[in-house]
Amino acid sequence: MDFKNKFYYMLAPLEDMTDSCFRTICHRYGADLTMTELIRFESLAKNNKSSWDRLKLYDDTPTQVQLIGTRDIFLKKFLSMFSSEKGFVGFNLNLGCPAPNIVSNGAGSAMIKRISKTKKLVDIIKNKGYDVSIKMRLGLNQFEKDNKVYLNLINSVDADFFVVHARHAKQSYGEKADWKVFSECVATGKNIIANGDIKTREDVEKIKSFGCKGIMIGRAAIINPLIFAELKGMTLPPAAQVQKEYEQLIKERDPPFRYRKNIFKHQEKTVEFKEG
Ligand SMILES: Cc1cc2nc3c(=O)[nH]c(=O)nc-3n(C[C@H](O)[C@H](O)[C@H](O)COP(=O)(O)O)c2cc1C
Repeated sequence: MDFKNKFYYMLAPLEDMTDSCFRTICHRYGADLTMTELIRFESLAKNNKSSWDRLKLYDDTPTQVQLIGTRDIFLKKFLSMFSSEKGFVGFNLNLGCPAPNIVSNGAGSAMIKRISKTKKLVDIIKNKGYDVSIKMRLGLNQFEKDNKVYLNLINSVDADFFVVHARHAKQSYGEKADWKVFSECVATGKNIIANGDIKTREDVEKIKSFGCKGIMIGRAAIINPLIFAELKGMTLPPAAQVQKEYEQLIKERDPPFRYRKNIFKHQEKTVEFKEG
C-alpha cells in the first residue's frame, strides 16, 4: 500500500454478496482494494470446506482475506495451512461484526477493547510475513464509544491501516454514521480508511478533508458496482456490458447461488440491508 502518494477506494466485505466475481467487477471498474467476506479462522483451521471456498481468489484483483476469531492456536494452525495466491495482499482482522453469536464469544466488535488479544493476533500474522489491517466499529455500544475505546485500539495496535466504520455495534443502518470521529482517528498518526454511508463525490471530498487515506464502500457498491469508476471520474461502460461480464465470471467460477441472488435482490432497491 502506498498511502503517501495515493488515496484508496476500497470495496467493503459484505457476507454472502462480495464473492470473487463481484470483487473482480468492482476492481475492473475502479476499486483499488477489495476484501473477502468474514471467514472464521477456527473453521479454516478445522479444514471446513465452505470456509476455504470463501478464501479462493481466482485472479489478481487486490484482495485482503478477512479473518474473524479469538484463539491464537487456531490462527497459528490456519496460517500453517495457508499459502498465498496471486491477488492476495494481506489479511484483515474483523473487529466490527455486531452479530450476537459472534460478540458473545468475545469476537467481532467485542474485540475492540481487547487490546492485548488483538495485538497478539496481529503479531502472529506479521511474524509469518503477511500484511495486516483492522476493520472496526467504534465500540460495542454507546458507552464504549463515549469512552473512545476505538482510539485506544488504534493507538495501541500496529496495523498497516484501520478501516473505521463510524457506528458502534448497537447502531442500525437507519442511524447515520458519525463522521466526526475520523479527525481524531487520523490524529493518532495511523492510516485511517473511512467507512459508513459514503456515496458521492462530495462525501469523498469531505473524507479527504479529515486526512483519511481512503474510503471503503459497501451497500452503495452493491446497488451500483460502477460507483468507484463514477467517483474517480473514469469513463463508464454500459451497464449491460458490466452485467454480462459478471454473469460470465459466475459461469467460470460457479459460486453458490446465494451470492448473485442477494446482489440482484438489493439492486432492485426494495430490500433493506441487514448485517449479522
Ligand atoms: C449484508 C451485510 C453484510 C456484511 N458483512 C460484513 C463482513 O463480512 N465483514 C465486515 O467487516 N463487515 C461486513 N459488513 C459491514 C460492511 O462492510 C460496512 O462496514 C457497512 O455496510 C457500512 O458501509 P456502507 O455504508 O458503505 O455500506 C456487512 C454489512 C452488510 C449490510
